[in-house]
Amino acid sequence: MNVSTMQRLRYEYKPKLPDVFFGNLNFIKPVDGKPTKAQSNQEELKEIFPHTYGMPVVQFAEAPTEPNTDPANFGVILSGGQAPGGHNVISGIYDVLMSANPKSKLYGFLQGPAGLVKNEYILITKEIIAEYRNTGGFDMIGSGRTKIETEEQVKSSIENVKKLSLDALIIIGGDDSNTNAAFLAKYFIEAKIDTKVIGVPKTIDGDLKNNYIEASFGFDTATKLYSELIGNICRDVNSSKKYWHFIKLMGRAASHIALECALKTQPNICLISEELAEKKWTLQQVRDYIVDIITRRAENGENFGVVLVPEGIIEFIPEMNELIEELNDLMALKGASFAKLKTFAGKKKWLKKRLSPKADKLFESLPEAISMQLLMDRDPHGNVQVSRIETEKLLIHLVKDRIKELQAEGKFKGKFSTYAHFFGYEGRSAFPSNFDANYCYTLGITAFLLATYGYSGYIASVENLTDKVKYWQPCGVPLSMMMTMERRKGKMVPVIRKSLVDLNGKPFKTFEKNREEWAIKTSFRFPGAIQYFGDSEVCNIPTKTLLLEKGDLRKTHKER
Ligand code: FBP
Repeated sequence: MNVSTMQRLRYEYKPKLPDVFFGNLNFIKPVDGKPTKAQSNQEELKEIFPHTYGMPVVQFAEAPTEPNTDPANFGVILSGGQAPGGHNVISGIYDVLMSANPKSKLYGFLQGPAGLVKNEYILITKEIIAEYRNTGGFDMIGSGRTKIETEEQVKSSIENVKKLSLDALIIIGGDDSNTNAAFLAKYFIEAKIDTKVIGVPKTIDGDLKNNYIEASFGFDTATKLYSELIGNICRDVNSSKKYWHFIKLMGRAASHIALECALKTQPNICLISEELAEKKWTLQQVRDYIVDIITRRAENGENFGVVLVPEGIIEFIPEMNELIEELNDLMALKGASFAKLKTFAGKKKWLKKRLSPKADKLFESLPEAISMQLLMDRDPHGNVQVSRIETEKLLIHLVKDRIKELQAEGKFKGKFSTYAHFFGYEGRSAFPSNFDANYCYTLGITAFLLATYGYSGYIASVENLTDKVKYWQPCGVPLSMMMTMERRKGKMVPVIRKSLVDLNGKPFKTFEKNREEWAIKTSFRFPGAIQYFGDSEVCNIPTKTLLLEKGDLRKTHKER
């Protein structure tokens, strides 16, 4: 195989492990905590998940045990969008599975959950693993967004895990995929098959976190990569002093990615969707906020700058959200007749009769390209595909129009020339940072241990992530305790609660304290490229978000 030097060197990287995993398997014992409960809708969730609701959080301790080391069959699925480190989760599972018993088997289902439904898989061998250690992407087995929900899909999933006599199924995914994992655990128990289901928290979006999950994997690498690109653009505008760059950043609903990149690069403007929702800003208010900063910078002769826009912003502007919800419900409940309409004009006419007058007025006022994007297919979980809505262009359009008006009134004397960018796919398949490489390998081992010790309907997690890796604490958390009831495709269903930016949390407060200065006084920071080799100060730093949320544990205590 023709590999790059970087690939070869990353194959040789040995992920660091928490101390608790250094002993052999006979010295790692699960320790159950207290029974748990969900934060809301407890009774409904207990009824939906009668076998798995209320189970304890599990930690691991170094103590003598007698694990079952009979050969085991494990299956693994990569689900949803790519996130750097997925291959290391699989390597972690593979290595520990083989060290427990080399006759064990690890099957990789192809192209996400669809592989399980269609029984399409490969047997993962040491040669395959060797080609993917510490590399980005999900191409070892592919990924997909199929949701296993219909009776036939569930039936064939059950048949297929039976055919392979799977002892465990590990689902590496985001909030929706882990919700699906919780359901599969339930269905398997109800079908009286002994296949344990364990989830692993994956998503660059950083929105699968709570009191027990400090971070989803991939967020670290993706935000480092985007910050390098943003920093480079900041330096470019600071050199030419002639453009405003509007940069939309992936991250779906939550603004964690935009906030982390802003903390790293100190741009002139970073919109935070959660704040706009709280302030109930209209599109016009968002536009005026941006125009005000552009005008004040122009008064200082600085006709350049960088604006970060979280990709989910459109759903957080209350008037836009109302419109999207109306569209979602109409498309879910009357999907068949809507799908028959072939032209945009036909769709608009159909919607005019059904949208509320307020929503219709807003829909009519949007540039046509944006209205068309709002009508594109939802993902299998019923979400608007926000990465396909060109919000950065919508904002440029609105700001340009307003600046023209101000120019005509003699209130804007500067220049305004723009570029639009969307950073998303560039970061999802990067070589995982050392942090993500270590974290993912640890998650893989944790998932293996949880399944081996008979836990099901759990998600693997690691605590103390801002400490040295040796002090990381692997654990297992019942998926049912992270759930709540939400409206999806017009119905109330259990879902894992998405974690949005906490406006009282330290990451947002730090940004809020500094943003006025960054807006007017050019204060860009240039984080540079991800470093994989060399000084620990540049190679092993967690995200600013994590450091602000959890404190830098490496500094707060002495060597234990
Ligand atoms: P997950 O939630 O599956 O991790 O996906 C994250 C994400 O990268 C979002 O940030 C983005 O909106 C979406 O995937 C894009 O989806 P797709 O890969 O289907 O275009």
